[in-house]
Amino acid sequence: MRTFCTLCVRGSIVAAKTAVPDFGAITANPRAVEVVQPLIDEVRRSIMARSVTYEEFHEAAAFLLDVGASGEMPLLLDALFEAAVDASASRVSSASPSAIEGPYYVPGAPLLEAPYVMPQRPDEPGERLLFTGSVTDADGAPVPAALLDVWHSDATVPGTYSNIHGDQPDFNLRGRLHADDDGHFALQTIQPVPYTIPYEGPTGRLLSALGRHPWRPAHIHVKVSAQGYRTLTTQIYFTGDQYLDSDSANAVKDELVIPIEPAGADHLGTAVLRYDFRLQPTPSA
Ligand code: DHB
Ligand code: FE
Repeated sequence: MRTFCTLCVRGSIVAAKTAVPDFGAITANPRAVEVVQPLIDEVRRSIMARSVTYEEFHEAAAFLLDVGASGEMPLLLDALFEAAVDASASRVSSASPSAIEGPYYVPGAPLLEAPYVMPQRPDEPGERLLFTGSVTDADGAPVPAALLDVWHSDATVPGTYSNIHGDQPDFNLRGRLHADDDGHFALQTIQPVPYTIPYEGPTGRLLSALGRHPWRPAHIHVKVSAQGYRTLTTQIYFTGDQYLDSDSANAVKDELVIPIEPAGADHLGTAVLRYDFRLQPTPSA
C-alpha cells in the first residue's frame, strides 16, 4: 500500500495526474519576482552566513506549523511587518498620520446616536475619557458625514478586546459615530490601558527569544472614512505611557502620542483627549 503525505493528497500533485500543465509556458508574476525572490535569496544567504543547522531548520518548520495551528498567523504578521507596510503605504499622503490596523478590528460595530457613548458594561472599569476632535480635509474644511469607527481594549490590566478575548459582551468598547456638520465629534468612553499581545503562543515565544516583551502601549484605534476620501486607519497613544519606546508591534509614531487633559471642573470631571483628523481625497475626487 502506498501512503501519501497529506499535502500531496490535498494539493495539486494528485490532480496533476489527469492534466499536467505545460510548465514551459509558465509566465512569472513580475511582482513575485521583484518582492519574493530577493526575500528567498536573503534567507539563503543568512543560512550560509550564520551556519544554520538542520536542528534549527527543523525548529523553524515546527514554529511555522505552530503559528498556523494556533491561529496566530495574522498576529505574527501584524506584529512583525504591518508597521513597515503602513510606513510604506503612507509615504506620500496629505492625511494625518496613519497607523497599523492590528489584528482585532471587527467590522459592523454598533452605529451610535448622539450624544455618543461607547457601548460598555454598567460597571465598566477605567477612567472616564472624552475623546473629541474634528475631521477635516487638508485645508481645514469639515468633511461632511465623516464616519469614525472606534475600537479599543478595556481597562483591565492587561487590556482585552471584546469579540476576541475574555468575557466582554460582543462589541463592548466598539462603536461607529458621525462627525457633525462642522466636522466635530465627541465620544464618551473609558481610557484603555497597556495591552499585551498573546505571550503564551508562538508569537510571544518568538518575541521573547528576541529579548522583547509583549506589551503594546495603551491606544485607541480609529478608522475615519468619508465619501471621496481615502479611509484613514490610525491609532492614538497617550503621553507618558511606559511602552511607547518598546512597543511589541513597533508601531508608535510620535505625532500620534497625545497628552490626556486631566479631569477638571471645566471638563465635567472627565479627562479629555483631543485629536483632529485630516483626510486625503481619493485620486479621482
Ligand atoms: C497588534 C496590534 C494591536 O493594535 C493590538 O491591539 C494587538 C496586536 C499587532 O500588531 O500585533
Ligand atoms: Fe490594538
